[in-house]
Amino acid sequence: MDSAIVPATETPPISRPTAIETYELSKNYRTGFWLTQKVASLKGCTLQVFQGETFGLLGPNGAGKTTLLKMLLGITRATSGRALVLGKPTGDRTVKQRIGYLPENPYFYDYLTGWEILSFTAGLFGIPRFVQQKRIPELLDMVGLAQTAAKRKQLRQYSKGMLQRVGLAQALINDPELVFLDEPMSGLDPLGRYQIREIILSLKQQGKTIFFNSHILADVEMICDRVAILGQGELLCIGSLQELLGTSDAYRAKVKGGNPDVLKNRLANLEFKDNYWQGNVLGSTQDFLASLNIMGAQLIEMHLARPTLEEFFVLQLQAKGIRYSA
Ligand SMILES: Nc1ncnc2c1ncn2[C@@H]1O[C@H](COP(=O)(O)OP(=O)(O)O)[C@@H](O)[C@H]1O
Ligand SMILES: [Mg+2]
Repeated sequence: MDSAIVPATETPPISRPTAIETYELSKNYRTGFWLTQKVASLKGCTLQVFQGETFGLLGPNGAGKTTLLKMLLGITRATSGRALVLGKPTGDRTVKQRIGYLPENPYFYDYLTGWEILSFTAGLFGIPRFVQQKRIPELLDMVGLAQTAAKRKQLRQYSKGMLQRVGLAQALINDPELVFLDEPMSGLDPLGRYQIREIILSLKQQGKTIFFNSHILADVEMICDRVAILGQGELLCIGSLQELLGTSDAYRAKVKGGNPDVLKNRLANLEFKDNYWQGNVLGSTQDFLASLNIMGAQLIEMHLARPTLEEFFVLQLQAKGIRYSA
């Protein structure tokens, strides 16, 4: 055997540098008139986000996503547990310079123009005027906002999509290495969502770590390296899409007609469901397709047998008795 070739099993595990680490992080809010009722918004959440990855935190409304994000940003204090962001405890001043944040409902001084709000935020970071003159147009370009609109229009005249773009530009003004985005695609039309996805992908290419909250699973499936699912404050699962959904390349087929005694030689776990015979394709898909005619069956549908992220998500919530409607 060529000594230069090391079997995969002997490759030492690579320990990846983390951008975020949380340990048993919990948050209880006190509510009610006398503040006597407790709401557990996050329950003992332990997770890691690696540097350079796009990480999606999923969960239905009220799951605790924004609560977790606000604790990582140092806006809200944890009731118990701890978290490290870029190696420092949350709220560390030096870390604030290195992170960006797009809030769920960005609050803007809406009589300012887009340019003015960016300049204002840049000022908070101590970015000198001459750097701003270069940086702001670059950012407007990146998020797809015309300079004339940014200079002339007040934010109250902006559409939801335009506001989201200014919010994103604002989150990136300090060229952060870690970006937090709370529901960046919500309320946008399909084109707006596509454009935000493209921006996130270009940030990833620049080596930035992106942590974003979402309940739009299709977007998450397209751009995330790893995801976590939160339900009623509990971390239900975490991993790459492959780890969670499996890597099986088995196909599931739905056919019309045919004799079940013959079909069962080609389709495993054959069942009659929704008026069609269905099962997992045995052997190659080519052989299966070629045999359909002989079996007198007609193909209705064929797709990968592993679940989509949406199916997986619903199953995870159902297992915990959590109702979900998209
Ligand atoms: N400031 C607050 N005071 C009281 N309860 C809160 C507060 N913020 C959030 N909650 C509660 O915590 C839970 C999680 O909320 P949140 O983190 O906003 O969820 P998500 O972002 O996943 O929709 C909800 O039940 C919400 O009502
Ligand atoms: Mg939220």
